Amino acid sequence: MRVVLFTGKGGVGKTTTAAATAVQAARAGIKTLVMSTDAAHSLGDALGVVLVDSPDDPDPVVEIEPGLSALQLSASYSVRRSWRSMQDYLLTVFKGLGIDPVVADELTQLPGADEIVALVELRKQVESGPWDLVIVDCAPTAETLRLLALPEALAWHLERLIPAQRGLLRALRPAAATATGLPLPGVQLLDTLRRWQESLLEIQSILACETTSVRLVLTPERVVIAESRRTLTSLRLFGLTVDQVVVNRVFPDAAPAESDPPESGQESTHTAWLAGWNEAQQRGLSEVRHSFEPLPIVITPYLSHEPVGTDALAALARARTGEIADVLLPAPAQGMTVRPEDGGYLLTLPLPLVTAAQVDLKRRDDELLVSVADHRRVLSLPSVLRRCVVTGAVVRDATLRVRFVPDERVWPVNEPESVARG
Ligand SMILES: Nc1ncnc2c1ncn2[C@@H]1O[C@H](COP(=O)(O)OP(=O)(O)OP(=O)(O)O)[C@@H](O)[C@H]1O
Ligand SMILES: [Mg+2]
Repeated sequence: MRVVLFTGKGGVGKTTTAAATAVQAARAGIKTLVMSTDAAHSLGDALGVVLVDSPDDPDPVVEIEPGLSALQLSASYSVRRSWRSMQDYLLTVFKGLGIDPVVADELTQLPGADEIVALVELRKQVESGPWDLVIVDCAPTAETLRLLALPEALAWHLERLIPAQRGLLRALRPAAATATGLPLPGVQLLDTLRRWQESLLEIQSILACETTSVRLVLTPERVVIAESRRTLTSLRLFGLTVDQVVVNRVFPDAAPAESDPPESGQESTHTAWLAGWNEAQQRGLSEVRHSFEPLPIVITPYLSHEPVGTDALAALARARTGEIADVLLPAPAQGMTVRPEDGGYLLTLPLPLVTAAQVDLKRRDDELLVSVADHRRVLSLPSVLRRCVVTGAVVRDATLRVRFVPDERVWPVNEPESVARG
């Protein structure tokens, strides 16, 4: 099953683009589900239907037209409460354990329960839904990145927390617990934590799967392009495959309408205004090409009306130009690779639009911590690299390359192991 997520800066047309892509696919005979992780729920508005939003409805999928279904979710009260209590608990524990403030900070930024519920549902639909294609309309970029990074980050925290907590349970009960001020989780809470961890790891495997890709929606404006460049870097950092850039709301190049000429003074103001925007958008478009090529770039025209309803969305999809590929085509893999080289190993991670100076690398035991701006990824090193030392790193051809050589003092290596891909 193919999964395509749409993300981008607030208001650029993510929901519209996701819905238009879904309608077009469904009308081409592809069994499609479109769903939203955005708590703002404008998917129903774009489709021109009322999507039921009942947290307790066991099957909230609504058929919009043959081959096209939509799903809008809200976390139920109990899920919201359980998520909240886990978050509160993790925060207290991490603070109490004196864990590094960056990590604690990541936890304070956990996405809301609605987004989590959407991811859990995505997993359910991918595993058991009858779809060929699942289209996901994501919340604006910042929330989406947190959401996409969460499974791996949280699993990482929980892996460390759970054994630590087991130790605490043995050592600190009950008087010492009061002394350290750390609340001890009951067996039930530990189970809840473990269940979250399992389900988040499964979600992670869907996000990293080769049939899942992300499409970046933007408008040809400088501020939007700048944010989208950072988003592309972060998406790749988290191991997500980006397979298309959609430039939305592109003005037609045509001259202003000739009928009903406005009063003479107005005409020149109007013409200058339009010419100004056309020119700015042309500059924007060449900046988009410069920034994102060789990714396929699709251009969506700025319609004279809001595309609301399935017919209007289908018309919008038809009006797109550029490198439109079959939506079911799997995206090219862009994950981390490891291969033997010169008696050592080379780890590569696609990391476009950054320079080496913007990337921070740290080795910690069996992990490599890669940070760019305020995003950090913890890469679990494949076993072949665990007994190696890092001897250098560069960013070249939009790719981070880290060189490892076997640390013979620690573990003599006889034969190079086969190439691993993570
Ligand atoms: N190509 C277009 N032509 C005309 N109107 C458009 C186009 N694309 C989007 N719109 C309109 O722009 C508005 C915002 O679009 P949309 O809701 O899809 O953005 P979004 O990125 O999902 O926003 P949010 O960040 O709030 O989720 C809507 O009213 C939509 O109908
Ligand atoms: Mg939206």
